[in-house]
Amino acid sequence: MAFSEEAITDVPTFSEFLIRRLENIIYTMPKLCIALDTDYHTASELIKALKNKQVVFKVGYKLFISYHRRITDLIKEEGFELFLDLKLHDIPNTVKNGVISARELGADYLTIHVSSGPEALKQAVEVAENIKLLGVTLLTSLEEEQLKGLGICLSKEDYVVKLSSLALDCGIKGLVCSGKELPLLKSKFDFFAVVPGVRLEGDPAEDQRRVVSLQEAIKHGADIIVLGRSVLKAEDPLKKIEDVLRLF
Ligand code: C5P
Repeated sequence: MAFSEEAITDVPTFSEFLIRRLENIIYTMPKLCIALDTDYHTASELIKALKNKQVVFKVGYKLFISYHRRITDLIKEEGFELFLDLKLHDIPNTVKNGVISARELGADYLTIHVSSGPEALKQAVEVAENIKLLGVTLLTSLEEEQLKGLGICLSKEDYVVKLSSLALDCGIKGLVCSGKELPLLKSKFDFFAVVPGVRLEGDPAEDQRRVVSLQEAIKHGADIIVLGRSVLKAEDPLKKIEDVLRLF
């Protein structure tokens, strides 16, 4: 069979497709989570425009404090998974009550600071039911000098390993960590990895410190990749998210 010129010019696209398929086999592709750190109008437009796409929406302080159920209900009604990023950090009974309330909102993921301590973590696990609890290890905005300033004299790697091991021992199955520590943690533990502090090529780190690229996060085994300002600050955030989704 003779190849048409058109078919020959198609070859690079096909090989790119094959490479991507192979990458998908080698690395389990993560889910993309969009951090809705925006005003309500922008958030609701994005949620509606991305209907039926493979995206998780994360709600944090900005929207949750002002809009509460209005934003969480919209995410659920449009059929998306809800990631409630409230980073619970309190005494065990208060943490437990927070998890129960998050359950009532239909949260699929909920963050809790591992430094809340073992009792708070265990009580959270006891009432979590279908929520995937995510233990926050060391914020991606912190570096080792700042750890020392907090009176923590471990290296950041040792500190993250210690917190991860504590969370997993208490029954927490997911950890929020920097892509920088992901290879180390994956070599030691079996867990569900959520990676914020991800930047698309050329984007500034801003207040984040331990940032990685999207490709690094995928290669290092992230299960959920959180993207915020790299897409939200784009001229056309929706188009940027759709471009990123094509890589998944
Ligand atoms: O804009 P950017 O991509 O830096 O946003 C990262 C998001 O992930 C923010 O919503 C932030 O609150 C959240 N996050 C984080 N580091 C953690 C846990 C959550 O940056 N350890």
